[in-house]
Amino acid sequence: MPVPRTLIAGNWKMHGTVADAVALARAVVAGSAGLPADLLICPPVVHLLAVAPAVSGSAVGLGAQDCHAAGKGAHTGDVSAGMLRDAGAAWVILGHSERRADHAETDAQVAAKAAAAMAAGLCPIVCVGETLAQREAGEAEAVVAGQLAGSLPPGFAEAGGVVAYEPVWAIGTGLTPTEGDIRAMHARLRAEVLGLCGPAGGGVRLLYGGSVKPGNAAAILALPEVNGALVGGAALVAADFLAIAAAA
Ligand code: PGA
Repeated sequence: MPVPRTLIAGNWKMHGTVADAVALARAVVAGSAGLPADLLICPPVVHLLAVAPAVSGSAVGLGAQDCHAAGKGAHTGDVSAGMLRDAGAAWVILGHSERRADHAETDAQVAAKAAAAMAAGLCPIVCVGETLAQREAGEAEAVVAGQLAGSLPPGFAEAGGVVAYEPVWAIGTGLTPTEGDIRAMHARLRAEVLGLCGPAGGGVRLLYGGSVKPGNAAAILALPEVNGALVGGAALVAADFLAIAAAA
């Protein structure tokens, strides 16, 4: 199975205005030509409709940060995968640790959301990652393997699903695991994904996320079985996001 093309995904979280989002999207599109990676931006859901025309016709993909598991219904404040597709998104981040923490999302809910995303024609990006206490207890790989087993629905690989490994303690902190730790975890991720998805799991892109910056991107992206990055803070500055992609 050939190594999948690198994906650099920006998770804009809950930042900015509509005007900020459109300007950032335009800046990313303007600098996107000739980069050795696929680019994806994931603005706040309320900004999708405004950002969609800015990326339309470009090589920059558009994604959301969550969806509901149901196609429609009485779910006040929630947004379905079909609505995201209708608004111009082709991807959706699911099970980010901030959602697992803030909204008590379980692996089963993440799997249901991923299935709903796939049914609506979206590519799911399923996030997994251990806490610092779990890493210090030597449980990181087992925790992540368990999250994967619970969070990937059938057909995930065939639908173009992506896995993002994001150690909770590395998100927004400036801390990153050692290269050896990332290498070991990604080797385990690949083995688990192959076990869960069969041979098609070889094509599932495995992203690293957690304090990826222009200064550390080249070293992280060069590691075996690291097929890209999920970028938070540095994705809010177009030059930094593009520099990370250029380092791929
Ligand atoms: P960070 O966030 O790059 O700011 O650490 C990554 C993420 O939460 O996806």
